Amino acid sequence: MQIPPAKNQQVNVLFVCLGNICRSPAAEGILKKMVADNRLEERIFVDSAGTSCWHEGELPDDRMRMHGQRRNYDFCSRSRKFVSTDFERFDYIIVMDDDNYRNVKKLAKTEEDVAKIHRMIDFSSKFSHHHKVPDPYYGGASGFELVMDLLEDACGNLLDKIKGNFG
Ligand code: 4NP
Repeated sequence: MQIPPAKNQQVNVLFVCLGNICRSPAAEGILKKMVADNRLEERIFVDSAGTSCWHEGELPDDRMRMHGQRRNYDFCSRSRKFVSTDFERFDYIIVMDDDNYRNVKKLAKTEEDVAKIHRMIDFSSKFSHHHKVPDPYYGGASGFELVMDLLEDACGNLLDKIKGNFG
């Protein structure tokens, strides 16, 4: 899975899911911690959004926060809706499943916008047999743990690719 180099010195990454209270804020928190551990905060900006506005302004789901805390992450973003101007602000727009892909693509205005959309599962090496980052919202603890495992794997590989593009 190759990603084209970003045009600027700073790389802007946006994770997108449906509610922006489970998967994408977890991806944001995990990648932000990896970026900080690598002292790359000046070069890599990370954010997240949802294709719905159902949870606008809310903190991540308590279950997602708890599963994150167990691994020393603090998921503390506030939910917001994905908007078409996000295509101007972000270099990589990384979605969790095919519904997210379709809904984000609907707001794309150019082929360049479409080329910015990537699937998170394509960055996973250990979970490539999955076709998406499964929505844990209506399930139990094992679903949240799978999301954590998958996102840690995919975020590590994504960061390696971004660093590779820095040269
Ligand atoms: P997320 O999970 O897309 O990973 O944030 C969901 C959160 C809320 C709902 C569905 C999925 N919901 O139906 O409210």
